[in-house]
Amino acid sequence: MATQDSSYKVDALIAQDIEAYLDQHQNKSLLRFITCGSVDDGKSTLIGRLLYDSKMIFEDQLAALEADSKRVGTQGQEIDFALLVDGLAAEREQGITIDVAYRFFATEKRKFIVADTPGHEQYTRNMVTGASTADLAVILIDARKGVLTQTRRHSFLAHLIGIRHIVLAVNKMDLVGYSQDVFDRIVADYAEFAKSIGIENFVPMPISGFKGDNITGPSANTPWYTGPSLIGHLESVDIDIDADRARPFAMAVQWVNRPNLDFRGFSGLIASGTVKPGDPIRILPSGRTSTISRIVTMDGDLDEAGAGQSVTLTLADEVDCSRGDVIAAADHPPQVADQFQATIVWMDDEAMLPGRAYWMKLGARTVSATVQQPKYAIDVNTMAELSVKTLGLNDIGVAEVYTDRDIAFEPYADSHALGGFILIDKTTNHTVGAGMLDYALRRSQNVHWQAIDITREAHAAQKNQRPRLLWFTGLSGSGKSTIANLVEKKLYAMGKHSFLLDGDNIRHGLNKDLGFTDADRIENIRRVGEVAKLMTDAGLIVLTAFISPFRAERDIVRAMMPEGEFFEIFVDTPLEVAEARDVKGLYKKARAGQIANFTGIDSPYEPPENPSLRIDTTTTSPEDAAEAIVEAIMGVWSPTL
Ligand code: ADX
Repeated sequence: MATQDSSYKVDALIAQDIEAYLDQHQNKSLLRFITCGSVDDGKSTLIGRLLYDSKMIFEDQLAALEADSKRVGTQGQEIDFALLVDGLAAEREQGITIDVAYRFFATEKRKFIVADTPGHEQYTRNMVTGASTADLAVILIDARKGVLTQTRRHSFLAHLIGIRHIVLAVNKMDLVGYSQDVFDRIVADYAEFAKSIGIENFVPMPISGFKGDNITGPSANTPWYTGPSLIGHLESVDIDIDADRARPFAMAVQWVNRPNLDFRGFSGLIASGTVKPGDPIRILPSGRTSTISRIVTMDGDLDEAGAGQSVTLTLADEVDCSRGDVIAAADHPPQVADQFQATIVWMDDEAMLPGRAYWMKLGARTVSATVQQPKYAIDVNTMAELSVKTLGLNDIGVAEVYTDRDIAFEPYADSHALGGFILIDKTTNHTVGAGMLDYALRRSQNVHWQAIDITREAHAAQKNQRPRLLWFTGLSGSGKSTIANLVEKKLYAMGKHSFLLDGDNIRHGLNKDLGFTDADRIENIRRVGEVAKLMTDAGLIVLTAFISPFRAERDIVRAMMPEGEFFEIFVDTPLEVAEARDVKGLYKKARAGQIANFTGIDSPYEPPENPSLRIDTTTTSPEDAAEAIVEAIMGVWSPTL
């Protein structure tokens, strides 16, 4: 079995003087890498082999090690190789639906963090998570199987994510008799694919994780191979942090420290460039300027700090700057925009919903964002651009993304920290996608608000009323239109200026291109919300009667309206009751299978959790309901009107 002489020296050093060891350790460079492969490619065995052969300390979480250098873990040499591999595999199986295990090991030359991710096809998500901070990817291939779809997907993702170094580890060479032919064929195959996706360089090696061939040194079983061993390569590949430091200074503010009135510091990880006290800076997206006064760390103030360091900055002026803002070099600030083209990797079982608002986490900022229908998805086998309506699990596509406010960003190609993002489902809180901002859409910079002299307030004052949006929601046949209609008649009688937007009517005109898929309903509500908002800007009291089955879209409309002007009215009629009434005969058709995606039957309805008003139509007549609504909205909540 291959061993490494140097490791014993280090073991002795650990035994002798842990502090000295840690010191030496801290000065080593750190390589972060990821192993990608399919289920049976031998990933656990390979990682076990690396940990075992490097005979060094390892911990599941480097974070723990960095946070507390005293808690350095077990020494590798005591552990049996087979047991170690079994342990890793078992641990990974247990964590399979969660995410990535970060394993730490080191050799005399370098420290390593390897992101160990479950290999199943459905867990591309984990690969993306692990890859986002990696300098190098080991693409693992089973020599008996060659290049698979999974290999292509992982390689493409690794390249998209911007991993600079790719190792093609052709594993299980022992099972193909260490055949140079097999190796050469796989490498040629891969080279052709790699070229097609823009991977210019990769380092191929024939290995056996199980037998230890070409892991720490040259193997006698592959005399025809003259390249580096895996650990040899990992130890010597250059990590390009200088490139990050050469770029203009930028740091996303992770949190604001204000222990007392005399101190206000902005903490974060420097994404690029270097910074010194006295440097002029600009805060984004606001664009305000100031000057750095101090760079504070736990070990005292610094004269200079750069990319990769976590620091706290203080500024010369009391300018507004909060969590999520970006502090950047005054003369080279990142861009600011709210519409982008992005490449997105979808990672959830539920397909993406174009138009749905997701949380988008970018740098230290979380904003609400909608993804439009993809321009295309990419076939990872052929690189063809496929025309699609949405992105499903593991799909990679290009789409426009709109955020609900301006954000400071850099194209991902320039800055992973300021151009990479994840998408989070607002209801489940699951990470459903990851993406890379390609560029800002020019229209987002060139379309400005036109100032209009007759303001919203002026329109409302002329009508002697306060604008409002009464948003009725409920199942088909629940009574929304009936009640809304009665409410409007009462408002009219009171001399109020109003307008009723009704689902069935709008679907004959403005929205006649929309059906009843989730995506179409989202677009339906988005348009109705925008129209209703414009009508309130014109000073009207607007009533809408749409099923509007999804909370997320109702919340988007709520967020568009000024505080106190949006009223969600839940017309609560149980499905059995609506179905028994079946005023339009649609439930019968839906049950007979003649209408697909019918709300309550094969399409969901998400009742409001906290409506302004709930009308129980099984106990309240439409007339009483209308009375109660008018009283609540015109009377109690706003006695002045
Ligand atoms: S929403 O879900 O997008 O808000 P909307 O209120 O515009 O729906 O339209 C619902 C009306 O369309 C229903 O009242 C019914 O008359 C009709 N309809 C036709 N097909 C469906 C369907 N599959 N699901 C629900 N309503 C349907």
